[in-house]
Amino acid sequence: MKRIVKQDRPGNNSKIRAPRRHAKQRPQAADLLAWYDRNRRLLPWRALPGVRPDPYHVWLSELMLQQTTVGAVGPYFRQFIDRWPSVQDLAAASLDDVMRMWAGLGYYRRARALHEGAHMICRDHDGRFPPDEAALRQLPGCGPYTAAAVAAIAFDRRANVVDGNVERVMARLFAVEVPLPQAKRELTTLAATLLPNARYGDYAQALMDLGAMVCAPRNPKCGACPWADVCRGRASGMAESLPRRAAPKTKPVRRAIAFFLTDADNRVLLRQRPAKGLLAGMMEVPSSAWREAAMPQLSAVRAEAPLRAAWRLLSGEVRHSFSHFDLELRVAMASISRRDIDGRDDAAIRWVSRAKLDGEALPSVMRKIIRFAAGQRGGS
Ligand code: ADE
Repeated sequence: MKRIVKQDRPGNNSKIRAPRRHAKQRPQAADLLAWYDRNRRLLPWRALPGVRPDPYHVWLSELMLQQTTVGAVGPYFRQFIDRWPSVQDLAAASLDDVMRMWAGLGYYRRARALHEGAHMICRDHDGRFPPDEAALRQLPGCGPYTAAAVAAIAFDRRANVVDGNVERVMARLFAVEVPLPQAKRELTTLAATLLPNARYGDYAQALMDLGAMVCAPRNPKCGACPWADVCRGRASGMAESLPRRAAPKTKPVRRAIAFFLTDADNRVLLRQRPAKGLLAGMMEVPSSAWREAAMPQLSAVRAEAPLRAAWRLLSGEVRHSFSHFDLELRVAMASISRRDIDGRDDAAIRWVSRAKLDGEALPSVMRKIIRFAAGQRGGS
């Protein structure tokens, strides 16, 4: 008897592969929204289905999520909301407190923008966030992406929300081989062609979830994608290699010696950085200037130490990567028995007990230096 092989229904037999379709149809927003309704992530700032989002939560989370991952932002978002439940509370906080709470998230300009933005909302908008993109763009730290995200998510406004994840999804869906950043405009235009006629906030978040959970940078789970059938990148077998990127420029390396000074009460000398520039206003372990040159000799930079002391250079290095340069630091250590400020009256200097270091506005690179120095002293 002849066996019947149901080749027309590949789903019946996992060994038979579906022939690749030619991905001629257009992606439909409705398919993505239906997928989102079943698969949406639970995120601390995300309103549950049917609940109106709090614009303050949306704005705060979007500022935090610029340059920082969802996983890292979660605890910070909760701490901010616990401490400052409304935009009025945040506006009433001191900038120092906001910087302290932000410490560790990086890109500290965002913390200043947050504080200033809260003031503007209270002063110029009666404490209510404006719903349209153009007005949101006037807030500090609110670029085209953030303004579009807040307009869509908080107010369900029609907005084309395009970040790096969305660019990746578009590059794959439409098999765009032009490398980034050149392809940005084209990818933004393509994203605009897919917008639905309703549920703009859900759609923006659905794209984010798709980019994070399915259309991931590596090992995309095309089998789980609601747009798999219409994805040209998948049809041509190159989804994972998209988007292409222009070769990254190598970053310059700056080098310096950090001066880790303790006193007899085991306090650490910290200094406030200048109000302008990188890590503006944050606390630091003082160091010689960060120069694009070979690692300096201790003798050459001793004069840049905050105090005269018997400095001892530790072996090993602390490394940190900033967006536009890498930093290599050696650490010199000393302790002084008296708080001898060497005739210098430096208002920026503070002695901070080790137990209180956690509460300081210390950026990650400074915490690395402190951990490194503490390790050398036997882990105190
Ligand atoms: N990345 C940027 N904004 C986001 C959001 N609202 N949810 C998840 N990931 C994001």
